[in-house]
Amino acid sequence: MSKEALNKILALRKKLHEYNYEYYVNSRSLISDFEFDQLLKELELLEDKFPAYSDENSPTKRVGGEVTKSFDSHAHEYPMLSLSNSYSKQDIIDFDERIKKIIDVPFEYICELKYDGVAISLIYENGQLIKGVTRGDGVRGEVVTNNIRTIQAIPLKLVGNYPKKIEVRGEIIFPTPAFEELNKQRKSIGLPLFANPRNTASGSLKLQDSAEVAKRNLDCFLYAVYMKDSTFNNASDQYYYLQQLGFKTPSLKDRYIQKASTIDDIMDFINYWDDKRNALPFEIDGIVIKVNQLDLQQEIGHTAKSPRWAIAYKYKAQQVSTTLENIVYQVGRTGAITPVAHLSAIEISGTIVKRASVHNEDQIQKLDLRIGDTVYVEKGGEIIPKIVGVDKSKRSSNSESFNFIENCPECNSILIRDEGEAQHYCPNSNECPPQIKGKMIHYIGRKQMNIDGVGSETIEQLFNAGLINNIADLYELKKIDLLPLERMAEKSVDNIINGIEESKNVPFPKFLFALGIRYVGETVAKKLVDHFKNIDAIINANEEELANVDEIGDKIAISVLEFFRDDNNLDLIKRLKSHGVQMEQLNKKTTLISSVLVGKKVVVSGKFTQYSRDEIKQMIVDHGGKNSSSVSAQTDLLVVGENMGPSKLEKAQKWKIEMVSENDFLVLIGLKSSNQNQMIEGQGSLF
Ligand code: IVH
Repeated sequence: MSKEALNKILALRKKLHEYNYEYYVNSRSLISDFEFDQLLKELELLEDKFPAYSDENSPTKRVGGEVTKSFDSHAHEYPMLSLSNSYSKQDIIDFDERIKKIIDVPFEYICELKYDGVAISLIYENGQLIKGVTRGDGVRGEVVTNNIRTIQAIPLKLVGNYPKKIEVRGEIIFPTPAFEELNKQRKSIGLPLFANPRNTASGSLKLQDSAEVAKRNLDCFLYAVYMKDSTFNNASDQYYYLQQLGFKTPSLKDRYIQKASTIDDIMDFINYWDDKRNALPFEIDGIVIKVNQLDLQQEIGHTAKSPRWAIAYKYKAQQVSTTLENIVYQVGRTGAITPVAHLSAIEISGTIVKRASVHNEDQIQKLDLRIGDTVYVEKGGEIIPKIVGVDKSKRSSNSESFNFIENCPECNSILIRDEGEAQHYCPNSNECPPQIKGKMIHYIGRKQMNIDGVGSETIEQLFNAGLINNIADLYELKKIDLLPLERMAEKSVDNIINGIEESKNVPFPKFLFALGIRYVGETVAKKLVDHFKNIDAIINANEEELANVDEIGDKIAISVLEFFRDDNNLDLIKRLKSHGVQMEQLNKKTTLISSVLVGKKVVVSGKFTQYSRDEIKQMIVDHGGKNSSSVSAQTDLLVVGENMGPSKLEKAQKWKIEMVSENDFLVLIGLKSSNQNQMIEGQGSLF
């Protein structure tokens, strides 16, 4: 074992911990994502090579990979209590009076946001995260450490003057943008949507595969510290201390916390956030008011359930009434029918609402919804407003019960509803227009075939022009078919044709995902490919063989089976194969010279002196990268030759895309040593 390797590993870990800390705690990027990934990859390779130097708190653990079959239970050293609730100014006055009966010295409060997530206890020993434990029943919780390690805001190692042992408590939350993105992805593969960020955060912590948790981009806010011999006097000092140890803490500047001396101060904070809470990138369900002095907290004490020195003020979910004008039906890519309520426009929590979800037939019946009804609409934990009730006193005497449609609104096929399922489906997957278009739009998507130059509008246009009816038709498009169409200049046509051509090199798992088989998302596609290696093996697999694959249940197995039983789909596969679309797993280790560019989109532009442009493009592929012809916000790297076009340069500067010279590039892929490297002025080369 080499001492040199150990030193390198330790240095890389230190650096990466620092960069993480600066990024997640201080919102400062000291290096680009690209360079961060490079360093992480370097560390990963070294850790693979020298397993004796492994460390469960290495920055490489952030990406997950550890699988927990069953979660151990852990007895909390201090019970995890809950908070009593209040709903009005009077409740706050009563709380204040109760406290003043117990203590007769001056004191102040600290007001905080009440993060709507799931409570967590983080235990550190000798500066190392050793356990992350859920609240459980308050006395015992479950150990979910592997999943917790993937949350970037939680330090794996403490910095500064940390104590021998410290327990920190907080709330794991699902940031709203990340939650919306997750639901978008689920919708695209026909999976049911998650109802709200809180429950999904809680479910995420219990996932067995920590790599899945890593993808969810959870966040964490802290609110309590337990340690022996602490010297701080106030709850607010704890936050300062936590910050010194490397934790992300709620900021005074953003008004996430604020001291309060009077009831009016408290109400001021409550009212401020009642107005502003919708603009936060995470959900809160109220405010927490705490006595700030820690010795007074001790003196005031707690009941069996909750501390007497703190109270939660809960915001009411805003409910408004409006008229249900209609219920319309949307047909998704997988044929799923979603009823959507059209409402008379109304403002809820600062946003104008015209649509609400009604989920499915059962929900419509449960609420006994009728067109013209006055309905109550709520924007609570859920992102999409929902109808929660009907004001039957306002119902007109001639209103009629609502019948769910029996035929597809787009193609008139008879809808089906499988036993035990809540949703209706249109079975006419090969002829129903929104399904045909939806499948093609899914196919070209960024995470699927990533076809540059083709967007959903192009698909719509080509479909309407009768040029494409399925994904195989894309590969048969000719320049002369496209040029006569509106908005199709020579350049955009070239982009389309090139983009489609390049998609033939997309790795097999992405293609399998792109096929749009119900329940086969990115992860399931990878698992299937890892197991079966090529498309024929998947097509020929029986239900049992499919269901035996790690994490593939009966439901997915049946869906895959049904997909490949359809002659139309088999015909598509045949045609796509004849066009050279990748349908087998390539052994990356033998085909790639290195993986320095894996996952990177690279644009090559200008004239080169040592190699031809095509040779450079080939090198990009050999090192795992993907060539693309135009610079976009998604571009990771631009290899710059002489006389590069000014528009490319402008775009690259606008999106702060890394630019490397021919020399830089050759150093990056290991064809040259770095002392021959030259920097492009003003860009600060990474390599
Ligand atoms: S202090 C009782 N502060 O709300 C123990 N809790 O409904 C002290 N929560 O179990 C809790 N934000 O999980 C505290 N700023 C905050 C909070 C907060 C969210 C959660 C916590 C608690 C639950 C009670």
